[in-house]
Amino acid sequence: MKSSAALDLHRRVCAALDAGAAPAPAHADTVSVSNYLSEAQSQHESALLRRYPQPIAASSALPAPGAWLATHVLDTPFLLVRQADGVVHAFLNVCRHRGAQVVPDGAGLNATVFVCPYHAWSYTPDGALRALPKADGFPCLDKAASGLRRLASCERAGMIWVFPDPALANTDPNDTLGPLMDELESLTGLQNPIAYAPRSYELNANWKLLIDGSFEAYHFKIAHKNTVGPLFIDNLQLIDEVGLNRRLYLVKAAFASERPSAADFAPRRYGNLIYFFFPNTMYLVQPDHAQLSWLEPLDAHRTRVHELTLIPESPVSDKAIRHWDANIDLYRRTLGEDYTLAETIQAGMASGANDVLTFGTFEYSAPRFHEQLRGAIDSAANT
Ligand code: FES
Ligand SMILES: [Fe+2]
Repeated sequence: MKSSAALDLHRRVCAALDAGAAPAPAHADTVSVSNYLSEAQSQHESALLRRYPQPIAASSALPAPGAWLATHVLDTPFLLVRQADGVVHAFLNVCRHRGAQVVPDGAGLNATVFVCPYHAWSYTPDGALRALPKADGFPCLDKAASGLRRLASCERAGMIWVFPDPALANTDPNDTLGPLMDELESLTGLQNPIAYAPRSYELNANWKLLIDGSFEAYHFKIAHKNTVGPLFIDNLQLIDEVGLNRRLYLVKAAFASERPSAADFAPRRYGNLIYFFFPNTMYLVQPDHAQLSWLEPLDAHRTRVHELTLIPESPVSDKAIRHWDANIDLYRRTLGEDYTLAETIQAGMASGANDVLTFGTFEYSAPRFHEQLRGAIDSAANT
């Protein structure tokens, strides 16, 4: 983070403490519960996600040239291969003959060739079609144009980001991740981080409920009273938008008690920074690591959550393992509190108690996200 951004946060935290609140719009807002229940809406959202960069794997899962990973997420079979020059290429793991999955889900090292299990068309690690049995049966085959379908991808902040939609193969995901990604990388200083303690699990809640809960600290002192609530100032969140991405700063109680000077102010020490990459990925920046939470909508009522912790290097001592595990335990218990509530909200929606969910002025960031999501779906439909 540039020192000017840190100074700006310092100034705004002081102003909010003096005023008793952070700036917010004058009016409360609502979001229709149909947004969380409609399968048609869910399908529009899933289609939209395919047009935004998705962090489908950790960089550290492909440690050297020749390393590969085949995975199914977002209803899509992906194949990632680290090339001889160290750059990861992303492909759709779909044979160009009759569409079988080429590489079974899994991971490995030293890839030399990928052979389709159906008729043995084979592909080199750079995705090119290498050979096919009885090639004389395909007199018109353009071999050069029949490699695995390549997707646009990049490696940023410890993750491999991919545009799942092959129509965006010539679009640079870095442009969408934008300056907040630059800031996240420079702030965390995680050059080649290790993905520690990854896990994926399903929740009975619409993915947007999990996003809503990340955009306000109004609930901290109540829902998180047994975990992180006591560490934070009540209901104080500073939010900056850069395009559709956001940075949130949730301020710790230590700021109010210590009142650090602007010159000494280290944002990571005095609060949680959340970097949100539209529409479904969040990094929580802690003083010496970052935690990634990536949401995969399954349908209107179910979400698969992918979490991992990015740490500077593999822990080699018991002390280091205990340190990271204690951090991860608190993170998981805190998110568990959020996610249990999200499941109760989802279960209550079908009851008819509420036609809309109501968001207070200081919760404005959630309804704003819904508005932006609607706008993005509309503009995708118009192109
Ligand atoms: S579908 Fe792959 S070789 Fe036939
Ligand atoms: Fe929470």
